[in-house]
Amino acid sequence: MEVILRRALIASALVVLSLHAETGRDAWLRYTTKASQPVPAVVASFGDSVVTTNARSELIRGIRTLTGKTLRIEGGAPAKDAIPKESAVILGTFDQLPAQLNLHATLEADGYWLKTITSGGIRYTVVTASNDRGVLYGTFALLRKMSLGETIAELDERQAPAIPIRWVNQWDNLDGTIERGYGGPSIFWENGRARQDLSRVGEYGRLLASVGINGASIDNVNANRNPAMLTPELIADVARIAKEFRPWGVQVVMAVDFGSPKSMGGLDTFDPSDPKVAAWWKAKVDEIYRAVPDLGGFVVKADSEGRVGPSTYGRTHADAANVVARSLKPHGGRVFYRGFVYDNHMDWNNLKNDRARAAYDNFKPLDGQFDDNVVIQIKHGPIDFQVREPASPLFGALEKSPKTNKAIELQITQEYFGQARHTVFLVPMWKEALDFDLRVDDAATPVKKLVNAFVGVANVGLDDNWLGNHLSQANLYGFGRLAWNPDLSSAQIASEWTRLTFGDLLPINSIQLSSWRTYENYTGPLGLQTLTDITGNHYGVNVEASERNGWGQWHRADDKGVGMDRTVATGTGYIGQYSPAAARVYESLVYCPDDLLLFMHHVPYTYKLHSGKTVIQSIYDSHYEGAEAVEGYVDEWKSLKGKIDDQRYAEVLAQLEYQAGQAEVWRDAVTNWFQRASGIPDAKGRVGHYLNRYEAEQMELRGYTVTSVTPSEDASGGKAVECPAAECVATLRHTGPPGWYTIRVEYFDQDNGVSRYKLQVGNQTIDEWSAADHIPTRKIDSSSSTRRTIHGVALRAGDEIRIEGVPDRAERAAIDYIELLPAN
Ligand code: GCU
Repeated sequence: MEVILRRALIASALVVLSLHAETGRDAWLRYTTKASQPVPAVVASFGDSVVTTNARSELIRGIRTLTGKTLRIEGGAPAKDAIPKESAVILGTFDQLPAQLNLHATLEADGYWLKTITSGGIRYTVVTASNDRGVLYGTFALLRKMSLGETIAELDERQAPAIPIRWVNQWDNLDGTIERGYGGPSIFWENGRARQDLSRVGEYGRLLASVGINGASIDNVNANRNPAMLTPELIADVARIAKEFRPWGVQVVMAVDFGSPKSMGGLDTFDPSDPKVAAWWKAKVDEIYRAVPDLGGFVVKADSEGRVGPSTYGRTHADAANVVARSLKPHGGRVFYRGFVYDNHMDWNNLKNDRARAAYDNFKPLDGQFDDNVVIQIKHGPIDFQVREPASPLFGALEKSPKTNKAIELQITQEYFGQARHTVFLVPMWKEALDFDLRVDDAATPVKKLVNAFVGVANVGLDDNWLGNHLSQANLYGFGRLAWNPDLSSAQIASEWTRLTFGDLLPINSIQLSSWRTYENYTGPLGLQTLTDITGNHYGVNVEASERNGWGQWHRADDKGVGMDRTVATGTGYIGQYSPAAARVYESLVYCPDDLLLFMHHVPYTYKLHSGKTVIQSIYDSHYEGAEAVEGYVDEWKSLKGKIDDQRYAEVLAQLEYQAGQAEVWRDAVTNWFQRASGIPDAKGRVGHYLNRYEAEQMELRGYTVTSVTPSEDASGGKAVECPAAECVATLRHTGPPGWYTIRVEYFDQDNGVSRYKLQVGNQTIDEWSAADHIPTRKIDSSSSTRRTIHGVALRAGDEIRIEGVPDRAERAAIDYIELLPAN
């Protein structure tokens, strides 16, 4: 009896737990708003494509979750043309709807019309469109309205996408890894083949369709990583993946290696002008379309970062893109040809060299030579997804007739944005790129008016929350919403997403909307770009990593000044790639906005900004502001306790607390570097002076040895302690006043061991933890630097505070410092 009772108790506890735990897997499609509004009892769908049938299933699923009621299916075969005799939701394209409804409109592909009509005295909610996908998108729009608590009683809403091609790219490898993926292993691939269980692909398709995304590439843009991709076995696998996406109107796209005719095709050349090569592409493409008749096309990265390309044979990018495009053309497929072409072996000493010029220099001369099913896929900025860049001038430079198709490439995965360990809502940044006025022919020309495709590098993975951080999902949502309508505001997108994903919780909006500026403040303000480890993991801070190498992400900071001189007058001439009207703004120090100053100009540290501050003081201040803002996010998040399910509450809290620690690491590293370089101290006396901080190297050490860290700004005071023995101890005696304290331990969590730490005050163990996170580094540096915070510790004068470290493999339980912060 007792056992049964206990089991029952455990079972009921589990039910309660599951009510309070959400994994994030449904993302913004939770359908939890319990607004009571009358819904018809019936759904009738006309047309029997997988997409329409799927739209009907989604409607039933959504309404059941929202209202607890299951719509009854009527219509379709056998009573094909009959409209239900009672109020119903009716789904179908204009062509498929029964004539009696008399609904016709000219609507672009994928657009939809939500319309309440009365026929024979009965009211119907009609979701119609010119194609199946539009019906599906309309269904999602209807469910979104209901989820946002909007009435669906009197509908008459027509929407059409501003941009016809809205794709995501996934940089997945066949071995299951994802280049720049932070949400777990590939949902598509495992051990060289498609996964047996592809159910996550369908779930992903559902998320994509809900925001109007209609295509997805499924393998790494560095296609040479996956040489088997075009073999018959893999083509069959692609067909399996396409089958999962198809009901969601998502076309599969493949990234292909331009060298394929030779590398896997058995030819002795991949010269795009050789008829053998053209024939090879045609045969290969025909073979793929036999397996995947609705393939969207290919993505090609050529002559870039070591990938082969037309330059091998002295041919142009137009020759390369067109030969592939011509094989796709009969099938309706397209080539998305990357504009991301640059020389990564540039001479750093040549002040005229400039990677930012590369896309324009490579593609402008070819304007007008691309076939009409070629799309040049251009990263939003001229460098590479940095924290702030101007829009690429190439968008405004391909305007000859016939017009070259252009896609804007945005990066949803947070490669240079804290890799999903930092919350950064990217929509405001994308909006700036889309609204960037290139002033072609001296008229307002925002980038959004120049592109006919949107591509988002998404890189979702198998993790329940898809992207590695619940709040990062807003970037995928926002990408889709902007591709549909680039005029939506950041605030509107954030608010929709928050309400759908968490509920009506303003603090989440305010975190999201300020997060890009915050991240910029502590990583690379004033157009410096992300001051990260450019040649390494693109994660932690490393101010000098950008310099003295051929990669061209230079900011040219020395003891006198900082910034890339990209002016026409004295610099690289990059600014001259903009139209004269746009160039005037950036060429001139008077007009150049502070945010892009150091991207465009080299100035002394004492140069006065429009803000009135000097460059150097602004660098110091913004880093302190950024770090402080993240501390604020932690408090804002804590105010949500009880208003969000426990699991997501706890996971985001842990993420923000970690981010707050990292933001300080960035703050300290960058400000110390610039103070050392410039020789100009922080007017507010903060840099290099840390109240309540005790360096580990100055503590009493047993077993621990002092080590110098490179680069030195990666550790406080340039040094840390590490444990070469089985166990080591660092001890500090409290000399401050008695009271409650927060203790922070800054330690190093590498990816090559799981060290253990124990914090003791006197003989009492206060906290124990393991350095078990998977941070992308194997050494003591700013990436591994991690903070442990212990609140509410009572300290008395003379107390001995001890940290015991037990190393594991190559990770040596290293410590940077501890901080004793008096409560309040
Ligand atoms: C960045 C990124 C690479 C990627 C490249 C690209 O440089 O770090 O991983 O391959 O962009 O967009 O092709």
